Amino acid sequence: MTATAENTAAPDLATLQQRAAQRAAERAGGRDRLRGHIVCDGLVRIFKTEGVEVVALQGLDLVIDRGELVAIVGASGSGKSTLLNILSGLDTPTAGIARVGEYDLLNLSARRRLSYRRKTVGFVWQQTGRNLLPYLTALENVELPMRLAGRRGGRRAHRERARELLDMVGVGHCADRRPGQLSGGEQQRCAVAVAVANDPEVLFADEPTGELDEATGADVFGALRTINAELGVTVVVVTHDHAVATQVRRTVAIRDGRTASEVRRTARIGADGSTELVSEEYAVLDRSGRLQLPAPFVDALSLRDRVRLNLEPDHVEVRPGDRAQDEREAGQ
Ligand SMILES: Nc1ncnc2c1ncn2[C@@H]1O[C@H](COP(=O)(O)OP(=O)(O)OP(=O)(O)O)[C@@H](O)[C@H]1O
Ligand SMILES: [Mg+2]
Repeated sequence: MTATAENTAAPDLATLQQRAAQRAAERAGGRDRLRGHIVCDGLVRIFKTEGVEVVALQGLDLVIDRGELVAIVGASGSGKSTLLNILSGLDTPTAGIARVGEYDLLNLSARRRLSYRRKTVGFVWQQTGRNLLPYLTALENVELPMRLAGRRGGRRAHRERARELLDMVGVGHCADRRPGQLSGGEQQRCAVAVAVANDPEVLFADEPTGELDEATGADVFGALRTINAELGVTVVVVTHDHAVATQVRRTVAIRDGRTASEVRRTARIGADGSTELVSEEYAVLDRSGRLQLPAPFVDALSLRDRVRLNLEPDHVEVRPGDRAQDEREAGQ
């Protein structure tokens, strides 16, 4: 709908994305297997507390390909954490479809759920204290999930991989320190290394930069980007941080438990030969043909109750309904 040109580090973003897709294809056994790594269709989650029902997700549709790095944004209470908890196997949906790879998240036995959470998913929480064990060093924290999962290679291989991962996210120098001796940003970068220790297929992060200042948050986000590009892990990150949202190719906005709009950024070569990043905003159309108009559009034309639709050769026109007629009818 709207297109704006941003002169940011476009080739960088494009290159990283390309590398991530290549790695993901290698892991999955071909490019044709990239489509629809994560699929939500009409996803519903209703919470019941003391007789009151809260519909946290009301028919959410979302498809994320293997190797993508997607940011999810939305107001408080819009259902972002509910979605992430379902996708990571911590919570069960009420209805609809939620699938990650070969796992159908509506029908998982306790055993498969455990294996899904141990082997397929990595998770980073917002609260730094929730991601790391305080009495272990950074290195030991990264080794622990490998030991618990009985990963091949034994202690020595675990230690070597833990060092590699800490280096990859830029905190190799913190290996022998405990979380209490690290800054918030360093802790979160270690948490990213812990989350990918067992080589998961997907990495979910729920506001990993929420407790950090902007510059430190950018470092943590950089760690997620590196992991996405180097390991080909599909990454879904919930964020309030607008700076983060402009550093990814795809941002999905959730409103009232549904996907409302998406911003996609693509690199284009400008007239002067320089690469520019063009972002375009799309409304999401569900399978029944429903879409949500952005609030500023609704406000600008005072749209209410009913609108008129006209099909034009290459677009659909939305006009305010006829108020006078509505009022006449109401008066009859
Ligand atoms: N366990 C629960 N029991 C009852 N209601 C819940 C539960 N978890 C979430 N909700 C409700 O579901 C809705 C969505 O909550 P959710 O935590 O997913 O929002 P969010 O987008 O993550 O918000 P925030 O940005 O504040 O973290 C809210 O109305 C919330 O009160
Ligand atoms: Mg939340």
